[in-house]
Amino acid sequence: MVRGMRSGIAVVGFGYIGTVIGAVLADRGWPVTGVDVREHVVDEINAGRSHVPEPGLGELVANNVGVGRLRATTDFAAVADNDFIVVTVGTPLGPDYEPIVDDITAAARAVGGHLRPGHLVILKSTVPPDTTETLVKPVLEEVSGLTAGVDFGLAFCPERLAEGVAIRELTSIPVVVGAVDERSARACAMLWRHALGVESIIVDDPRTAEMVKLACNTWIDLNVAMANEMAKICDRLGMDALQVIYAANSMPKGMHNVNILHPSMGVGGYCLTKDPWFVNHLGQNLGLELSIPRTSRTVNDTMPTYTYGLLTDLLTGQGKAIETSKIAVLGIAFKNNTGDCRLTPTRYVVELLEASGCELSVHDPWVPDEEAYTVTKVPLTADIESAVKDADALVVLAGHREFHQIPLTRLAELTAVGCIFLDGRNSFDPAAARAAGFIYKGIGR
Ligand SMILES: NC(=O)c1ccc[n+]([C@@H]2O[C@H](COP(=O)([O-])OP(=O)(O)OC[C@H]3O[C@@H](n4cnc5c(N)ncnc54)[C@H](O)[C@@H]3O)[C@@H](O)[C@H]2O)c1
Repeated sequence: MVRGMRSGIAVVGFGYIGTVIGAVLADRGWPVTGVDVREHVVDEINAGRSHVPEPGLGELVANNVGVGRLRATTDFAAVADNDFIVVTVGTPLGPDYEPIVDDITAAARAVGGHLRPGHLVILKSTVPPDTTETLVKPVLEEVSGLTAGVDFGLAFCPERLAEGVAIRELTSIPVVVGAVDERSARACAMLWRHALGVESIIVDDPRTAEMVKLACNTWIDLNVAMANEMAKICDRLGMDALQVIYAANSMPKGMHNVNILHPSMGVGGYCLTKDPWFVNHLGQNLGLELSIPRTSRTVNDTMPTYTYGLLTDLLTGQGKAIETSKIAVLGIAFKNNTGDCRLTPTRYVVELLEASGCELSVHDPWVPDEEAYTVTKVPLTADIESAVKDADALVVLAGHREFHQIPLTRLAELTAVGCIFLDGRNSFDPAAARAAGFIYKGIGR
């Protein structure tokens, strides 16, 4: 099936994940067609631009559209001209914390209308177990009149890359493959080896692969929740949580070491905020009262308020009140070195600051103005020097690399004497910040 008659890849759903996958595959020489229902996204791609704020992605899109290997369309007929169809539409969380798979159904219906014998369909969106076999497969079969595992291949391969380092991770993390039959699994593994240079871990079926993704994100969210509670303890005891974690992580356990992740001012983004709830919902459907996903979500959701509390305590310690202080927020994206503000925990800190009556400035070189309005009513200050001028406290909510490029001594010169440096991402060296004249505080350090 690899590089057969049609030998191209259609990526259905050209949002964050679809654009990264499509641009990387095109860059590796494959003809790629992005298919999306949003016309402005398609127009933007065809103009050689991407709205997705991922390091290195803009260049990949521009280059590959330029040489004709990458294009986008709203016309699903394009599916027919490609051997491989990768589906990466969104799966948001519903009002009752349940997974919404409507876009998966719509995409399967639209793809089914153009399915041909020999196609391999790969679902990559994060979905509850059984979605590939009980939703996608019957829709594709009904609309196309073809049979999965006989006329066309079908597999689920979870996407496990992290934003900010997506391009590197796409071409280095092994892919998990769960297919409806052995032939689909082999074709899938061959595709990922040829196209991305990565190996595959083939599991029994799509539902196992679907569960793998949920297990990964439940582990991450729970691990961070534990780190956050350790940090709260260390704050009370006056210890450095990062020293505790670094030393703890030297202990071998099972096949690896203890691996506690880092505490921070909150967990956000499109995956970790919803995938544990998918697991919780799954448990409810199975008559299980699970506590882990609910606990990890609850703990991590306390962190913005906790961070705000640290700030007000630090100001009080300096004889200052929040309502008469000038506070400069650096970074509002949900994580370092991305401009993605979807479900960002920074929003809750900013909301508390806005309500406090303080004089507030906000700077984030990664976030476009139109996206910033989803987080703050305060217009972004374009340059860091103006943002921090005379501030009583710097509050780092995303540790973007640009914030490390300006010397700490320069920041200290610009801010008020005895300025607080609240490092919500623990991304600065406390000793260096203190040496520059700041009153430094991290999360748990
Ligand atoms: N963002 C991440 O870091 C990440 C990481 C791993 C997995 N995932 C999973 O990948 C999936 C996609 O995430 P994302 O962040 O790219 O979402 P996104 O919202 O950025 O992109 C989804 C795209 O699908 C398009 N779309 C919706 N319905 C469609 C249809 N019927 N046909 C064609 N296109 C359609 C939308 O217009 C949008 O461009 C989700 O299931 C998510 O959980 C995301």
